[in-house]
Parts: sequence; structure tokens; C-alpha cells
Amino acid sequence: MTATSDRYDAIVLGAGGAGLMCAAVAGQRGHRVLVIDHADAPGKKILISGGGRCNFTNLGVAPDRYLSKNPHFAKSALSRFTADDFIALVDRYAIAWHEKTLGQLFCDGSARQIVDMLLDQCDRGGVTLRLGKAIRDVAHSDDRYRVAFGDDVAEAPALVIATGGPSIPKMGATGFAYDLARQFGLKVVEPRPALVPLTLSGEDALFRSLSGVSAPVVASCGKAAFAEAALFTHRGLSGPSILQVSSYWRPGDEIAIDFLPRHAADWLIAAKRERPRASLQQLLSADLPARLAEALAGRIGIAGEVGAQRDATLRDVERRIAGWRFVPNGSEGFAKAEVTVGGIATQGLSSQTMEARRVPGLYAIGEAVDVTGWLGGYNFQWAWASGWAAGQAI
Ligand code: FDA
Repeated sequence: MTATSDRYDAIVLGAGGAGLMCAAVAGQRGHRVLVIDHADAPGKKILISGGGRCNFTNLGVAPDRYLSKNPHFAKSALSRFTADDFIALVDRYAIAWHEKTLGQLFCDGSARQIVDMLLDQCDRGGVTLRLGKAIRDVAHSDDRYRVAFGDDVAEAPALVIATGGPSIPKMGATGFAYDLARQFGLKVVEPRPALVPLTLSGEDALFRSLSGVSAPVVASCGKAAFAEAALFTHRGLSGPSILQVSSYWRPGDEIAIDFLPRHAADWLIAAKRERPRASLQQLLSADLPARLAEALAGRIGIAGEVGAQRDATLRDVERRIAGWRFVPNGSEGFAKAEVTVGGIATQGLSSQTMEARRVPGLYAIGEAVDVTGWLGGYNFQWAWASGWAAGQAI
């Protein structure tokens, strides 16, 4: 028996943040919308995000906080559906929230509230959700897209790719968006794990003995620098500052860490005058966790009292502590990456509508696209904004 084809105005592939937002907006504009996902529940990444409280946006959203081959691409969507727009929606549902740090907004309660809000928005738009359905085939002819999924077939003049990137495959993440994009002649910018812990080997493996220690640092990779905490792990380095620079890092690149970013130049020489009998380790311990102070002092290798050191030596020590350089031997990969840098190339998409320039009716949104935000709610804001832009255009 051949399956009959159900007709819709738009089919959205992927029931994550971007897909649900797009479907809700298009549905509420009067379109018949179908959302298909192979997962058995919608918005799984929303549910685990922000430690279960979902860091749903950031007060500091700006295009320069996104990585993309085309840094201008995200501007239009981000300016038409802003953090304030999402906050207004959250407020309409009386979801309590708070700013944690650096403009990051979290639910007071549970991330489930965000998923429920998006599902209610979909409901109001009459959106049909089909979950737990593997997509078997996508074809395009006579200006219609036909999607075979599970035992069913559906067709529509508009198809939205919202299946995200390959980060955290254990949760059902796949590179499906890229295969589909290529099928329709779109290019894909090499996907790389981002917002991911970095691993250390050789001399730098010394830090692995500090597993569990964290300190506020400035970490930089090239011109990108982030003043946040770094966390030593049994495999290398993590924590917000390291996750942030990991998005800019490529194999072979050097990372620099300033362990005492608040210290003025010549602080060690001033300390030599004030506490000449102190050791370097004792001075470092005043501002750093004891185990880290011990490891750094041991590595620098200055024995005895600082009072006995030449000023030039102490300046050298300061420079090392302010710019500790190392080359990670890798990252923990897609298994641990919060997001993916790269993805469907923006050159083939309209920044206004997210529609493929050469394939009418085909849209790509969210993490599937080559737009990646900083840590701190920026990625969800891109999911909402790009989903909204496509939902308005369909
Ligand atoms: P998303 O990945 O959410 O959705 C894609 C959907 O497509 C999924 O439901 C998936 O099942 C489905 N799919 C995939 N392949 C398919 C296939 N072949 N067939 C059918 N369906 C398929 N961001 C942020 O701003 N604040 C935060 O607090 C966090 N926290 C966070 C924690 C963790 C642990 C991770 C892994 C990530 C975050 N993020 C985040 C990033 C954020 O989760 C991410 O940017 C968005 O979920 C992207 O939304 P999308 O809808 O584009 O993809």
C-alpha cells in the first residue's frame, strides 16, 4: 500500500528552539504547518540548557558576538526579533527569570517552561507535531517538497531545515542539515566543535593535576579575549573563558591565559618591597587557589624569597603569569561541544528571510546555519530570531 501524502503550507524539520519558533510564527500567520523530529520529545536541548534553567537570551546581544564567515549575516534577523521581544513573550507566560551574570537571562524555575511556552505558541498556530519519526527522504519537484518520514509522506511548497548541528550526538544531534543543504546545492562551511573544553598534553599536562580548581582569568586566542573563570579538568581546561575561546581556536593555535588580570604592571616589584621575605608561591596564593599558586610557582622555578630577586627577573615572572601560553592538543569534540561553528553557508541564504537564494521555498535556520553565538544565551537568541524571520517569510 502506498502512503498518501498530507498537504501543508510548510514543513519544518526539527523541533528544537529554532524549528518551534518558526512553526509557531508561520502557524499563527494562518499557515498549515507540520513539524517533524526523530526525537521522541521536542526541545530536548532547551531542557538540558543552562543547567536545566535555560539561559534563554542575553541583554548584550549584538552581531559582533556571533561567529560566521559573513559577520554581517546575523544582523537583520537579530535586529527584527530582539532579546526584548523574547523577554516580552516570556513575561506574557509569567515565567519568572533573573539575570545571572554578564547579561545572561535564566528561568528562575525550569527550562521546561520555555518548551511549554513554545508548544503553546505552536498550538495557537494549529501546528501539527510528528515526533519519533525518522526522515527517510526529501524530494523537490513541481514547486513542492515531499518528505517521507516514518510510514508517512507530507508535502508543502516550503521546507525549513531546523535540525541543528552535530554537537552532542548522544542527544540525537546529527549532520542531517548539511546533507540536505548539499542535496539542494547549498555550500557548508566546515563544521567544528565550539564552546567545548580543550585538552592538554606534554608539558602542559601539568595542569591536569589541578583538576577541579577554578580561577577568574582572561583567556585569549588571537584577538578574541574573555574575562571569565577557567576550570582545570582531568583532561585539560574548561570553564566559561575557555569555552568562549574554544570557538575561535583551531588545531595548532596558541591559547594565552592571564592568571592575574586585575594586577597592575610591576605588582611583583611592589610586593618585593613590601614583603621581601615572601616566596613567589606565597604571593600568588594571596590571589589564586593554593594548588594553582603552587603549580605556577613550581613551573616558574624561582626558589627562595622574592626580596633576593632582581627586578628584571620579577618583570619576566609577571609577564609569564599574565600571558601563560600553551597549545592544546585538541578539544573534547562534538561529544561535549555546546554548539557547532560553521554549518550551512550564509552566502546561499537571504539574511532577511533565511530562504535559499537559488532554491525557492527552502529555508535554513538556527544552529544548522553558519552563525554561532558566544556562550551566555546568544545561541538561543539566534535560534529564536532566525526562526522568527523564516516564520514571517513563509
Ligand atoms: P536543536 O539542536 O535544538 O534542534 C534540532 C532538532 O532537530 C532536535 O530536536 C533534533 O532531534 C532534530 N533532528 C536532528 N537531526 C534530525 C534528523 N536527522 N531527523 C529528524 N530530526 C532531527 N544556548 C544558549 O543560548 N543558552 C544555553 O543555556 C545553552 N545551553 C546549552 C547546553 C548544552 C548542554 C548544549 C548542548 C547546548 C546549549 N546551548 C545553549 C546551545 C543551544 O542548545 C543551541 O544553540 C540551540 O538548541 C540550537 O537550536 P536549533 O533549534 O537550531 O537546534
